[in-house]
Amino acid sequence: MIGGGAVVVAGVAAGVAIGVSGGGDDGGVSEAGAVVLRDDPNGRVSLTVNGQSVRVDAAPDTPLLYVLRDNLGLKGPKFGCGLAQCGACAVLQDGRQIRSCVTPVSSVGSRRITTLEGLAASYHGRAQVETGDPAGLHPLQQAWIDEQVPQCGYCQNGMLIQAADLLAATPSPTDEQIVESMNGHLCRCGTYNGIVRAIRRASSVMAS
Ligand code: FES
Ligand code: FES
Repeated sequence: MIGGGAVVVAGVAAGVAIGVSGGGDDGGVSEAGAVVLRDDPNGRVSLTVNGQSVRVDAAPDTPLLYVLRDNLGLKGPKFGCGLAQCGACAVLQDGRQIRSCVTPVSSVGSRRITTLEGLAASYHGRAQVETGDPAGLHPLQQAWIDEQVPQCGYCQNGMLIQAADLLAATPSPTDEQIVESMNGHLCRCGTYNGIVRAIRRASSVMAS
């Protein structure tokens, strides 16, 4: 997980060097909970992820999912189908859900990427989340716990990311709107009813 402050991690997984900084000339830090990539004169890919500016040695066509998991150690997004069909790899790009398995890292540009690890900070702000206070959970995460949604858990990253996308655009969705929004995310454990309940609960909390 990407921490705060200036950090350099070398030789992670794919044998690349990763620079992570809290800001500076190589890219601004967005609001809490997002990471951003942009061009780098040395040929490295730069992006902003969960509020951190990051430089990664990766080929431009490397899937964003691989960069997040292998280079940055963000294990929230999962590899499922690799074909934009299941939703397990979902992340937010400027607040909207994308499938990171089919997104070349070079296409992210200056957009803010938020993974499940940064979801709470994107809502509450990083300082509160880093206290470890359960109140620092995103309302969706708390609702997921309260409704005991996950079974094996593999799909849940994508479900939470899609739900965050939905509530940002439609704060008080109907059940029909919830089902329509979540339709592109697959759960082999059949947690769909719990997901609808949890989204309803989070929507209510976020509106109060
Ligand atoms: S792994 Fe990306 S949609 Fe299935
Ligand atoms: S909780 Fe197992 S795949 Fe959804």
